[in-house]
Amino acid sequence: MSCSVLPLLLALSPVLSFLLLPGVSASQEVLWENYKHGRLSSELLDEHNCNWKCLMFTLQWPGGFCQSLSNETYCKVPPNINDWTIHGLWPDGAQRCCSCWQMFQSDVQELKQNLTEYWPSLLKSRSSFQFWKEEWNKHGVCAACVEGFNSPLKYFQVCLKLRQHFDIYSWLEAAGITPSCERLYKVVEVNDVLAPHLGDKHEIQCVKDQKSREVLYQVKVRLTQNLTFGCDHHGNTAGSGPEPLPSTGHPCPPDVPFYYLPINPQQPWRPCS
Ligand SMILES: *[C@@H]1O[C@H](CO)[C@@H](O)[C@H](O)[C@H]1NC(C)=O
Ligand SMILES: *[C@@H]1O[C@H](CO)[C@@H](O)[C@H](O)[C@H]1NC(C)=O
Ligand SMILES: *[C@@H]1O[C@H](CO)[C@@H](O)[C@H](O)[C@H]1NC(C)=O
Repeated sequence: MSCSVLPLLLALSPVLSFLLLPGVSASQEVLWENYKHGRLSSELLDEHNCNWKCLMFTLQWPGGFCQSLSNETYCKVPPNINDWTIHGLWPDGAQRCCSCWQMFQSDVQELKQNLTEYWPSLLKSRSSFQFWKEEWNKHGVCAACVEGFNSPLKYFQVCLKLRQHFDIYSWLEAAGITPSCERLYKVVEVNDVLAPHLGDKHEIQCVKDQKSREVLYQVKVRLTQNLTFGCDHHGNTAGSGPEPLPSTGHPCPPDVPFYYLPINPQQPWRPCS
C-alpha cells in the first residue's frame, strides 16, 4: 500500500509543488539540453539509463554519529547544530555513477546557508562542501537522470525540502522522546511516532558506542523517484550494481533499549561526561 507524501506537502505549502517530480520519460531531452550546454559528457547520456527505482533518504542524529566513529578525534559538531541533519539521498541499487559531472561551489551558492545548517560535515577531516561534493559524485549524478534532480542545485534543493518536511526532532519531542544521558528508548516507541510521518518502510538505525551500548544514529526513508512513500523495489531490477552505500549503522534491535544522546559540540564524542 503506497501512501503519498505529496498531497501533504502540497497542502502544507504551494512552494513545495516542485517536489512533484515527473517520471523519467522527459529526462533524455533535458539531459540533452544539459549536454548541449556543456554540463554533461556523452558518458552520462550513453551509459546512464536510470535503472534504479527507489531512493533512500537518510537523516542522521549528530549525537549518535560521533559514536559511530572509531576515534573521537575524527568528529566535529559545529556549534549551531542541534537537530537532525542530512546524510544523503541515494538511488537504491544504481550503478556506480559516472565521473562525468563535476560540482562546484557556485552550483549551490544560493543554498549554502541552508546546506551548512542542515547538511554539515561532521568529520574534522572534511569540509561541508567536500561532503556535498562526495554525495553528488557518488549518488546525485546517478539520480540526475530524473528531471527533478538533473542538476546539483535541483538535487540539493530537493534534499533540503525533504529535510524540512521530515522534522524528526519535533515529532519525537512531541511524544516525549528527547535526547538524554539517562533515558533509554525502545525501537517500538520511536517507530510508533515516526510511522505515520515516514511510512512503514522506514528504518531506525543504531550504532554501538565505546561501551557497547546501542545509540540512536540514523533514520532511513524509502521513497519512489517521484518522492512518494512505499517504494518496494530492492536494488536494481537487472540484479547488477553495488549495494547502497555501506554504513556502520544497523537496525536498532527490537529487544535492546537504546540511548538518544544529547549533542554536545564541546565534546561530541562524550556528550554525557
Ligand atoms: C585517534 O587519532 C589520532 C590522530 O589521528 C591519533 O593520534 C590517536 O592515536 C588515535 N587514537 C586512537 C585511540 O586510536
Ligand atoms: C532555507 O530554509 C528556510 C527554513 O528552513 C526556508 O524558509 C528557506 O526558504 C530556505 N532557503 C532556501 C534558499 O532554500
Ligand atoms: C509515483 O510513482 C509511482 C511508481 O513509482 C506511481 O505509481 C505513482 O502514480 C506516481 N505518483 C505521482 C503523483 O506521480
